[in-house]
Amino acid sequence: MVLARLHESVRPSTYFEIGTLRGETLKLAKCKSIAVDPKFRIASDVIGAKPCCLFFQTTSDDFFRDRDPAAIFGAPIDFAFIDGLHLFEYALRDFANTERHCRPNSVIVLHDCVPADRWMAERVYTDECRRRSTFPDRWAGDVWKILPALKKYRPDLKIAVVDAEPTGLVLITRLDPQSNVLSDNYDGIVQEFSGLDITKYGIARHQDDCAMISTRALARAADVAKLLGR
Ligand SMILES: C[S@@+](CC[C@H](N)C(=O)[O-])C[C@H]1O[C@@H](n2cnc3c(N)ncnc32)[C@H](O)[C@@H]1O
Repeated sequence: MVLARLHESVRPSTYFEIGTLRGETLKLAKCKSIAVDPKFRIASDVIGAKPCCLFFQTTSDDFFRDRDPAAIFGAPIDFAFIDGLHLFEYALRDFANTERHCRPNSVIVLHDCVPADRWMAERVYTDECRRRSTFPDRWAGDVWKILPALKKYRPDLKIAVVDAEPTGLVLITRLDPQSNVLSDNYDGIVQEFSGLDITKYGIARHQDDCAMISTRALARAADVAKLLGR
């Protein structure tokens, strides 16, 4: 599992997660952790060996309005996983808000940015058309747009996309916690990309743009480190 390899490779002292649900991804962290979700559904031991784990049952926007994760940790975020509301504008805000609390060589991972078909990329979670998807239980929404948006507005980031099934994982490093590019241009970026439709853009074209790396090439923690240039 790529996320497990990432934990082995990054060896974070601080882990920050947006979108936790039952805590399957939170379980992988062994360090100080913060989890944010408006509705946790945790029914197993997700704390494990963590020295501390804070749960904020709120939206990511409200969390960032009221809290400073680096101040809570007493150190910047080393590793973040963003898997909250699967709408482009939310993912964009989550990324920009998280980056502000990272170090340049921290790693931010985004989920669900490479939909397998157009039906899972539907913006409306309750839309009946989602049943036509090969993965009717998975909703990727339109967070895929964050990739062309970051490519255009943040060419300084190092971005790698892994073909983890079914909707890929995006690994981002070479961060700039001081950057205001996304927040200063937020309204324009949302407007520019809101009209983009995966059917017109093309699933295959998006997958080509991603130049995905096979999960098989990341069998060892050292492979992940090499990929991220760490
Ligand atoms: C796909 S699930 C997360 C799964 C988890 N990361 C895992 O793999 O085990 C998405 C989660 O995002 C949460 N969510 C929805 N809106 C959110 C928001 N505005 N801020 C933060 N989390 C949100 C949902 O409550 C849900 O638990």
